[in-house]
Formats: sequence, C-alpha cells, structure tokens
Amino acid sequence: MRVLFVCLGNICRSPAAEGIFRQKIKHAGLDHLISCDSAGTSAYHEGEPADGRMRDHAKGRGYNLTSLARHLTPKDLDHFDLILTMDESNYNNTLRLDPEGIYHKKVKKIVSYCKIHDVGEVPDPYYGGTDGFELVIDILEDSCDELIKELETKIK
Ligand code: 4NP
Repeated sequence: MRVLFVCLGNICRSPAAEGIFRQKIKHAGLDHLISCDSAGTSAYHEGEPADGRMRDHAKGRGYNLTSLARHLTPKDLDHFDLILTMDESNYNNTLRLDPEGIYHKKVKKIVSYCKIHDVGEVPDPYYGGTDGFELVIDILEDSCDELIKELETKIK
C-alpha cells in the first residue's frame, strides 16, 4: 500500500502529513505494509527541505520532517494507491494530471478522514503565523489517525 500526500509547495503541509503518517504507521506496526511519500503541485521549492517553521512546529509535537520537495508527476498517479490532497486547489491540480480520469478514484482530500475537525481543507500556513502551523498538525493528526484505522481494517 503506497500513500502520497500532496500540497502546493511540498514544503509545509504534505511533508508534515508524511512525517506524521510515517510515525503513526510505525507505532501501529504497519510500516512493513504501508509506505508513504509527498509531492507538490508546483515545482517552486524543488529540492528544498521542509520550511523551517513547519519543521520546528512538527519537532515540538514529536515529528521529524526529513523530506526534500519534489514536483508531482503523472507517474505518481499510477504508482501510488492513495493520493491525499490538502485543499481544493491541490485536488483539482492533481486530477488535471489525469485527463482521462483513470486514477481519479485514488485521489481524495485528506480532511475527508477527519473526525474531530470539521474543516474543508488543511489551510495553507505559509503566509500566516505560528497558530497556522499548529492547526495544520492538529488536522493532520486527526485525519491520519482515522485513515490508519480504516487501513488497518482493510489490510491486516
Ligand atoms: P505548502 O505551503 O503547499 O503547504 O508547502 C506553501 C509553500 C510555498 C508557497 C505556498 C504554500 N509559496 O507560495 O511559495
């Protein structure tokens, strides 16, 4: 099972999702069955580590973010089993890479898994303050917990 997290720059939200999910699947004893990665719908930050503010906030919550930014490609839609986007724009831009709609069923908004947070997207924290980064982690923890519960019932 391969899971891909997608945002715009691949330096804030999707690297955080990747780091949080990776730790949680390890904790759940599923790391031999599930792998994950992240990518951005833009190439603006290609090759860069996650934003220092996102890394600091994640570290404060116990997550180590180590990924380097990369651009989402059409091949990713074939390779990954589940592709989770952070907002409406990422969702639409991901679907646009597959004009035939062959892989559309694999693409979902990560907030569709949320149980505690009633939100329509993971808000972009890039131009905001510290609260935005904490909120990103809150929403991602909620959605990853529920996603893992669902995957456990499917693959164990
Ligand atoms: P991300 O955040 O999509 O969560 O990685 C952003 C990173 C960079 C920019 C916007 C959002 N930017 O405009 O450069």
